[in-house]
Amino acid sequence: MGTLFKNGTVITASDMVQADVLVEGEIVTLIGGNLEAGIHELVDCAGKYLMPGGIDVHTHLDLPFGGTISNDDFDVGHMAAAFGGTTTHIDFVVQPIGGSLHDGLETWWEKSRDIAQIDYAFHMAVTDLNEAVMNEIPTMIDEGITSLKLFMAYKNVFMIDDATLFNTMRVAADNGMIVMVHAENGDVEAALTPALLAAGKTDPVWHASSRPPEIEGEATNRAVVMSGLTGCPLYVVHMTCESAIDALRRGRSLGYPVMGETCVQYFFLTVDDHLGAPGFEGAKYVCSPPIRSAQDHGILWGAVRDGTLQVVSTDHCDFWYDGGHGPWQEWNERTGGADWVGYEKQDPTYRRPGKELGIGNFAKIPNGMPGLEDRMMVMWESGVNSGRLSPSRFAELCCSNPAKIFGMYPRKGTIAVGSDADILVWDPQQEHKISAETHHMRVDYNCYEGMTVKGVPVQVYQRGRKLVDGDQWLGSNGAGQFIPRAADAPVL
Ligand code: URP
Ligand code: ZN
Ligand code: ZN
Repeated sequence: MGTLFKNGTVITASDMVQADVLVEGEIVTLIGGNLEAGIHELVDCAGKYLMPGGIDVHTHLDLPFGGTISNDDFDVGHMAAAFGGTTTHIDFVVQPIGGSLHDGLETWWEKSRDIAQIDYAFHMAVTDLNEAVMNEIPTMIDEGITSLKLFMAYKNVFMIDDATLFNTMRVAADNGMIVMVHAENGDVEAALTPALLAAGKTDPVWHASSRPPEIEGEATNRAVVMSGLTGCPLYVVHMTCESAIDALRRGRSLGYPVMGETCVQYFFLTVDDHLGAPGFEGAKYVCSPPIRSAQDHGILWGAVRDGTLQVVSTDHCDFWYDGGHGPWQEWNERTGGADWVGYEKQDPTYRRPGKELGIGNFAKIPNGMPGLEDRMMVMWESGVNSGRLSPSRFAELCCSNPAKIFGMYPRKGTIAVGSDADILVWDPQQEHKISAETHHMRVDYNCYEGMTVKGVPVQVYQRGRKLVDGDQWLGSNGAGQFIPRAADAPVL
């Protein structure tokens, strides 16, 4: 017996049509008009949209970073993602300095194996390139990993030099892999930060001055030029500003294989209103590159509309605003105690530090913010309901383009015969007020606090299994599958 989704409107990147969708086992087996339920379970979708499960290709779950560890993991982070309509994500494995890529991979297997509740894949962040690692890169394809990430920022932590970037791109190009970059000039940031601190500029708002847009534009251009020289497909993550968008646009106009994403927060948050909020409040919004200005928001909307940017992701990397008081306990009580698989379960006295690490020194604020649960609803509200994006462009940015660029299409990212039945039953009339009081992410604030969105995933299916039914969580640990990805993915 399968499941028949009847009377809904199917939204994909190419179409918006009234159609019934039959799911048998884990895949979509038939799409058509007036299909008979017969022996199948009927899901009446009248007045609803049927959309592909969201794909977030930029997350950092359970990441040791900035003197602590990001809160959401492959357990609770997955539940939060699904409540927001995201059924697949790609997380970043980090090569340990002095270790191999496989060493990093083993660590990420431990974080996800038997724990994952939704489907997931991995990018490989190369932090320490040598000959052995160069030889190891192609073996990642056998592991289902076809994308490499390089940080041009975070000096003395993850940052690589230009030779590493260039040589990695050469190997990647030879093997049909794609290179992703965090594009900010880390040397310049490392020079600006001590000068700001020495001048007493220690509040969160100065984080933006330590990473001005120029250093993002410069690094983006450098990576774009190297893509042109090597022919290696390039994907620039979390783009925020005009100089970076201009560099990408120029590369594309020259025919270089370059693509880019922005993240939801960069459409909304500003230095003045958020990073510069009174007291230490601005720490909530410290991420790199920094949030920018209202003018940049307009540039980004233009870039997702005209195709310069292909994807909207989250860069989800959440830390307690106030880790010192152990709000994880309150969080567990409020949600009925989701299964905590992290350090606190092993040691209930442990207090995971959060943003407060940077009181008196903005450079010590852990970089990153939550958004995994919010992405689809916030983008629907601000993109589709506002008339900036068509529903199909929304599906393209949040579902199909991520799948295509990263070698998961058409298994993921669309509703088509033969695709995984990752299906959202989306109610375009239902309203929801976003709040840390009700979200499922394990974090004590929400960047979109108080925003009312119209359009929510009321039921979420993964490979034919219902994960979310209204407020109810039906998922289970270990049900999420690792999705091996194909090399030679298309450049969009
Ligand atoms: O501030 C950020 N973006 N934190 C996560 C790590 C990264 O740079 O993507
Ligand atoms: Zn980054
Ligand atoms: Zn990131």
